[in-house]
Amino acid sequence: MRKAEPFKIKMVEPINLISKEERQAALIRAGYNVFSLTADEIYIDVLTDSGTGAMSDRQWAGIMMGDESYAGSRSFFKLEKSAQDIIGYKYIIPTHQGRGAEQVFFPLMVKKGQDVIGNMHFDTTMAHIELAGGRAVNLIHDRAFDTQTPHPFKGDFDLEKLDSYITTRGVENIAVCIITITCNSAGGQPVSMENIKAVSEICKKHGIRVFIDAARYAENAYFIKQREKGYENKSIKDIVREMFSYAEGFTMSAKKDGLVNIGGLLGVRDDEELYVALRSMIVPFEGFPTYGGLAGRDLEALAIGLQEGVEEAYLEYRIGQIEYLGKRLMEGGVPIQTPTGGHAVFVDAKKMLSHIPYHQFPAQVLANELYLEGGVRGVEIGSFLLGRNVETGEQLESPMELLRLTIPRRVYTDRHMDYIADALIAINQRAHTLKGLEIVYEPKVLRHFTAKLKPVE
Ligand code: F0G
Repeated sequence: MRKAEPFKIKMVEPINLISKEERQAALIRAGYNVFSLTADEIYIDVLTDSGTGAMSDRQWAGIMMGDESYAGSRSFFKLEKSAQDIIGYKYIIPTHQGRGAEQVFFPLMVKKGQDVIGNMHFDTTMAHIELAGGRAVNLIHDRAFDTQTPHPFKGDFDLEKLDSYITTRGVENIAVCIITITCNSAGGQPVSMENIKAVSEICKKHGIRVFIDAARYAENAYFIKQREKGYENKSIKDIVREMFSYAEGFTMSAKKDGLVNIGGLLGVRDDEELYVALRSMIVPFEGFPTYGGLAGRDLEALAIGLQEGVEEAYLEYRIGQIEYLGKRLMEGGVPIQTPTGGHAVFVDAKKMLSHIPYHQFPAQVLANELYLEGGVRGVEIGSFLLGRNVETGEQLESPMELLRLTIPRRVYTDRHMDYIADALIAINQRAHTLKGLEIVYEPKVLRHFTAKLKPVE
């Protein structure tokens, strides 16, 4: 039997559903782009799981105990100890969030013209690789793109592709390898321990250094425990340590599995030279290495959040809630990426709105319709987000057209999940009546945040 949420609620934040007419007007004002809606116009917000989670009573108590010393803060040493305990690395540096770690890491690792290989890089990771003069290359197994055929580890690298890519491209043209766990862009899909180990061995054979993008590492560990042979009786902490043992360092957005509203980490296993190089660049970008762009209270909350994020009862609830929403949708005939991932359910808009071509943005149409139907805000991950070829201006076609329903941690109950599912199931009944969108304004970079659209005639 599925257990109830492993917490009770001590503080509440009211939410309000505005009328259908008001939602219609809000969407027109927002240029048919849900990023331009205001929080008060939204009933249930599943735009992201990043920094949107609820902290525990212990974390709030920790906030009061934060030490605001500029250098040598007590809270830093607590955080360092907590992260070392979970990950097993010697060197830990705080940053203000994940991309704060990325902006320090990539310029040190990448030479102009080199590739950074990975299973599938997240957008900010890709942006920082490109800013450093590199090129982001995704070597995920093709099965990740087939939403309807389940596989326990859709975040896995294609090992043959990895090996042959390195050989063909030449080791000197590859800066580093990044394993993203879980793989956000593929639907929050986990990477198996076997795959992490094999990637590490292949890279080692070629002399390429391996790092981890660790935003959702605890969710990945839980999937390994659930799905991979030999791990069913291991503790989450043991699995986490083993995953990290195959890499040399990591960047982490702590706004996900770290269970805080702001924060990030950089970690190095034991390479002192690399640690010193990173630490010296942290100063101009993020701040003194014992606070890294955070307040002492943030460090304190993260020290506690990291420990809560690997508790098994919490992860069982967390992954179980996503699975529950996915099950409700599948029972209602809504096509989703299967199996469900760690932090989100990805609705396959290409399947659901097969009459709308990629250049009319089917997943964006679905995002808008979900807002109109129920005041729920999801996010498009498809051709709208992918954008245009910078040289030719041609609209690119994304391999997948997905609507991401990203569930904040410890925030919504199963009733909220039911409400989201009911709204999407209702839309599915009349999916064939929905019309595509065209762009009326778009900036050159990261257009999905501010572009304006309108329905095609
Ligand atoms: N890496 C991954 C895998 C991420 O998902 C994110 C953020 C980052 C790095 C960057 O971290 O936001 O703390 O600077 N993902 C959020 C999302 C924004 O909505 O998926 P950040």
